[in-house]
Amino acid sequence: MHILALESSCDDTAASVIKVKRGQATCLSHIHFSQIRTHAKYGGVIPEVAAREHAVTVVPTFQEALRKAHIPLRAIDLLAVTQGPGLAPALSVGIDAGRILSGLFSIPLVGINHIEGHIASVWPCKGLRGGYAKTPELPALALVVSGGHTELLLVRKLGQYRLLGKTRDDAAGESFDKVATLLGFPYPGGPEISKRALQGNPRAILFPRPMLNDPSLDFSFSGLKTAVRYLLDKKKKRSTAYVADVCASFERAVVDVLIAKTLRAAKQANPKSVLLVGGVAANMQLRNDLAVECKKIGLPLFTAPQQLTADNATMIGLAAAFNKHNCGSRIKWKTMEALPGWELGR
Ligand code: KG4
Ligand code: ZN
Repeated sequence: MHILALESSCDDTAASVIKVKRGQATCLSHIHFSQIRTHAKYGGVIPEVAAREHAVTVVPTFQEALRKAHIPLRAIDLLAVTQGPGLAPALSVGIDAGRILSGLFSIPLVGINHIEGHIASVWPCKGLRGGYAKTPELPALALVVSGGHTELLLVRKLGQYRLLGKTRDDAAGESFDKVATLLGFPYPGGPEISKRALQGNPRAILFPRPMLNDPSLDFSFSGLKTAVRYLLDKKKKRSTAYVADVCASFERAVVDVLIAKTLRAAKQANPKSVLLVGGVAANMQLRNDLAVECKKIGLPLFTAPQQLTADNATMIGLAAAFNKHNCGSRIKWKTMEALPGWELGR
């Protein structure tokens, strides 16, 4: 079976071709067009602007994915598009592209949950750097950290989830981006903060660890961003070394909270493995420290391959390939619409 997958929930237009043979997935192409340069001008993603860019890019992205995979459209057995959550105008462009192909060429169409896609990014897939050979042992505890989401989910299998905790305000990636804006870095600021943090002292400034002592598994990051703002308001002249200390101390606070809550969730839910996925999973401090902590408690950690941390279509194709429930309930192209607030595990 060949799956043509498309992702357009935010500011990345991506398409991939995934081959599935006897339960083994292989990534035949992984095409990704980022809109970052456009949105950097506005300091964040403008939904209507994102949708217009998706509309321009979507056909060339599909074409490139098919060309790289050496697969004609008629050999595609299943179309998979991100149906939600995400920005409604952006999602609609990808869904409409899928609906048109499905309707015209009679290819079944399935709508995939974007968060499930992030989770599926650690499922085994050949042809990818850093991919795993084996499926994580289930149930797994997934820490999903991205620009729009910070969630702890218990994954019983792909398609069956229990939401254990989530952010009550900003997502972890969003807090990185907002602090980066305060420091004058371009959008998205997560990678720049983690780069500067390498030169700084994580203990230089004691930022709050929001909700660390709260017994729930929920997160809150907006107070942390406000603490950084107050600090920077008082210090208008900042040396490179001082900025590095702010970045390192801020990153330390976020990572501390993410890890503490993940360990607490592991204690409560007793999973067989831990998954770290989403854009913020690219953060080396988080990757390394969570690996150390998981080792201490004897749980295998599956971290998204770097190529699949940011939004991409390979993860959407993998979710389509491995979520049997999803493929069993293919939605008709005539009726599929965007689900911008689609939550997993409720
Ligand atoms: O998953 P993703 O590509 O998009 C969403 O679904 O939101 O995540 C993007 C987020 C951005 O907030 C970006 O700043 C953050 O991931 N990010 C990072 C790093 N690389 C990307 N945050 C911290 N450290 C990084 N190295
Ligand atoms: Zn995402």
